[in-house]
Amino acid sequence: MEENMSRYKEIKAAILGAGTVGGGVYKLIGRRQDELPDKIQAKLTVSRVLVKNLNKKREGIPSELLTDDWESIRKDPDIRIVIELMGGIEPARTYILQALEAGKNVVTANKDLLAEHGKELMDAAERSGCDLYFEAAVGGGIPIIRPLKECLAGNEITEVMGIVNGTTNYILTKMTKEGMDFGEALGQAQKLGFAEADPTADVEGLDAGRKMAILASLAFHSRVTFQDVEVKGITKITARDIQYADAFGYVLKLLGVARSEDGQIEAGVSPVMIPKTHPLANVNDSFNAVFVHGDAVDDAMFQGRGAGEFPTASAVVGDVIAVARNMQYDCCGRIGCSCYKNLPMKPAGESRHKYFLRLIVEDRTGILAGVAGVLGNNGVSINQVIQKPAVDGVAELVVITDKVETRHLHDALVIFGEMSMIREVASVIRVYTQK
Ligand code: HSE
Repeated sequence: MEENMSRYKEIKAAILGAGTVGGGVYKLIGRRQDELPDKIQAKLTVSRVLVKNLNKKREGIPSELLTDDWESIRKDPDIRIVIELMGGIEPARTYILQALEAGKNVVTANKDLLAEHGKELMDAAERSGCDLYFEAAVGGGIPIIRPLKECLAGNEITEVMGIVNGTTNYILTKMTKEGMDFGEALGQAQKLGFAEADPTADVEGLDAGRKMAILASLAFHSRVTFQDVEVKGITKITARDIQYADAFGYVLKLLGVARSEDGQIEAGVSPVMIPKTHPLANVNDSFNAVFVHGDAVDDAMFQGRGAGEFPTASAVVGDVIAVARNMQYDCCGRIGCSCYKNLPMKPAGESRHKYFLRLIVEDRTGILAGVAGVLGNNGVSINQVIQKPAVDGVAELVVITDKVETRHLHDALVIFGEMSMIREVASVIRVYTQK
């Protein structure tokens, strides 16, 4: 065995960050140690693990590998792959740029960084002729980045959408299947470790928004940043909205939807009612899925675990193996930035969607006519209406619109806000329609 191994050259890597994902990557590389030489024709070793606190014990990682000195990694010419798993913008951004400048290949799972500074990092990789791989940045263990860049490269992709946040999918699944309200479902998700103590980035749709910026950039070959993505979370969703969705034949999901149409891109994350027959409607609990439409492939869906120690490590180690293989053939930097177009974002308000509106109104003559009049005067066509019998002088009026330019709906909502007969616009939720 020893003799056999010695014919392979050694590729050294450093992991930055020894949290859940960093630890998982270290362990998975260890688990595959015997097979890796056959897979990549080289021996792969993690020779350094960068941590902030050297005194903290890292289960499964030998303490002699730990360092808190980035410079010792940056300046070590034997370290050829840097695996960035610290998360956050800084110092991750600086370390990645310095690693690329030093001729090291980089694998990262850092969606926040890519969604805001993707161009800067891709440019740096191109300048240095190094690989920058980031499969784990979207959808954890689900292969979607390289499929978009490579396997689907023959397509014109016009839509990419998905359930890209496991925390919110878990919460919405609980609300749907067990009738819980948002607070109760969030509490349970936190107790079981599916939601963080501060769940803001997940429940407000920010995490999903960053992932959609990355997916849209890859799908449409034009840079979309997090600021370009319209984001709305699930904190205002009630069990009642979910019951109505069910009655109308829909399931409510936090959906990222990005489309390219007439030379413009629109990208958003929001609660969306999707038909029960759509494949995404059956993606439940903490699972993620990404649905892609291309002119040649038609519809394709990628589903799996969007987070967690080993699912995420699966994507990261896959990238490390790809980089190591490229190194063997001296072809790193082969697949660089694929944003060769410069498409504008569709102006806010011009996108056309169908909507579900739930209004709490006074129970008196002329209300339905008043609501219909405001919608009609603003060019919002009604598709379906339900009015529930009034309780204590207050009734609930539910309207599903036809497809409407969002700005026209906004105009109608402003007028609703000024009408005393409308006590509350309780919900405004997008309903999925095909392009
Ligand atoms: N917090 C994310 C989720 C996982 O709930 O899906 C990391 O991106």
